[in-house]
Amino acid sequence: MIRVSAGVRGASVLLVLVAAGAIARADSVAPQAISGADKDFLARHWRRPIAPQGPAPEGFSPLERSLAPESCGTCHPNQLADITLT
Ligand code: HEC
Repeated sequence: MIRVSAGVRGASVLLVLVAAGAIARADSVAPQAISGADKDFLARHWRRPIAPQGPAPEGFSPLERSLAPESCGTCHPNQLADITLT
């Protein structure tokens, strides 16, 4: 059986903790300002507001095609109650 002295074991634990600390620091890279090229990319891909999407697909039921709040409330009663003031 190999005997490991308390000093060696303590040094090993310390080494592991220091290594873990180094890895944790490497992961936490500070956010940087968005470059001009990245801003252009974001503007192209996430246009707001999005363009009108046209009529709903044929396979959708009338309830699914409706944008009336009462229709939404069929499946989302709590949300409808939240926005209903009367
Ligand atoms: C036929 C039932 C039904 C109708 C009608 C309906 N929804 Fe939903 N809605 C769902 C289901 C099911 C989900 C998915 C829930 C989930 O995955 O947790 C959902 C998800 C959503 C979410 C995403 C919620 C989240 O936490 O990500 C929004 C927002 C939403 N619905 C808004 C609406 C609006 C606005 C309407 C009306 C124009 C509407 N819904 C009509 C069934 C419906």
